[in-house]
Amino acid sequence: MIKIPVAKPFLGEEEAEAVREVLLSGWVTQGKKVEEFEGIICQYVGAKYAVATSSCTTALHLSLLSLGIGAGDEVILPSYTFIATANAVLHAGARPIFADIDSKTYNLDPGKIEEKITPRTKAILPVHQVGLPCDMEEIIKIAKKHNLYVIEDAACALGSKYKDKMIGSIGDVTCFSFHPRKPITTGEGGVITTDLPDIAEKCRVMRSHGASVSDLERHVASRIVFEKYTELGYNYRLTDIQAAVGIQQMKKLEKFIEKRRYLSERYTRLLGKNEFLIPPHVPSYAFHNFQSYILRLKENAPISRDELMGKLLDKGIATRRGVMAIHLEPYYVENFASVSLPETEKALNTTIILPLYTQMTQEEQDYVIENISRICA
Ligand SMILES: Cc1ncc(COP(=O)(O)O)c(C=O)c1O
Repeated sequence: MIKIPVAKPFLGEEEAEAVREVLLSGWVTQGKKVEEFEGIICQYVGAKYAVATSSCTTALHLSLLSLGIGAGDEVILPSYTFIATANAVLHAGARPIFADIDSKTYNLDPGKIEEKITPRTKAILPVHQVGLPCDMEEIIKIAKKHNLYVIEDAACALGSKYKDKMIGSIGDVTCFSFHPRKPITTGEGGVITTDLPDIAEKCRVMRSHGASVSDLERHVASRIVFEKYTELGYNYRLTDIQAAVGIQQMKKLEKFIEKRRYLSERYTRLLGKNEFLIPPHVPSYAFHNFQSYILRLKENAPISRDELMGKLLDKGIATRRGVMAIHLEPYYVENFASVSLPETEKALNTTIILPLYTQMTQEEQDYVIENISRICA
């Protein structure tokens, strides 16, 4: 029986009441609540436009399409990320080109990007892994030099900052996720933020079948309005039910982050002393929301990462492997040429995600720490 989960969303009466209101209003698909939620996100991250979507995967897909990235184009991204990052590139018809990560931050290593650039490269797609911002100044410098777009996968990074700039206000386009393991949740959901009006408009049209006029605009119009289908679109809409949850969650976000940072600092203080363990490295440029806490086992550790996960599970403690390596997953192995990414492969087998959630008590955290310390002695 699992006593301590790896993550747990924090949802309360406020969210339940907000959903009830929407259900009883009779307007349950994308409407006024989505608009309100988008406004809150814009203001929070400091972007001009926000386009809510059904997930971060669909947000990434629309971002790529809206920038005109498709067949014959290449996009540079890390392999050490969730599979959706590369899948979105494939969905757009482009080719994912994997570059290696930095051994300390586990984020895209800016020093490994330029060697991957070809005449077909259109964009760099950095991932702020588990909420830790990438070295954006370096990435943007390379993008400017080679005339490339920067699309940020900030699935985990709502509330994180790079040198006092909120993630979501830096690259050309940024995509966030509202999956239950993320800093706030709407069940499923995502959002695109950008300062580019044409891109925002294109994403807005494409998320709703390519229609020139939204359902809501037609609903409130005092005359007959016929929409036109100007783009090949999708149904990637967020619902008002989900947006109502998101609006309530945004009121709690700062508290969520504060608690995550407190628990993470405690993990680092109490586990960092162990000679076999490496706590997360946070560069001075980063404000980390600690969407997840990644611990690494040193090469001389008395136990493998998988054995540690197994022993913790025996004690009722759920963990996850750090992050996957997409280039080693069967679909990518079968369909693409192999690529050597030494730092990614090392991190793949030595990192572990520890339980971390807003409601976590000191007692629960102590139980996790005691068990790791005992097993890794
Ligand atoms: C880095 C990263 N990118 C993309 C995604 C996909 O997000 P979603 O589940 O909202 O599509 C995730 C989700 O886990 C993620 O961690």
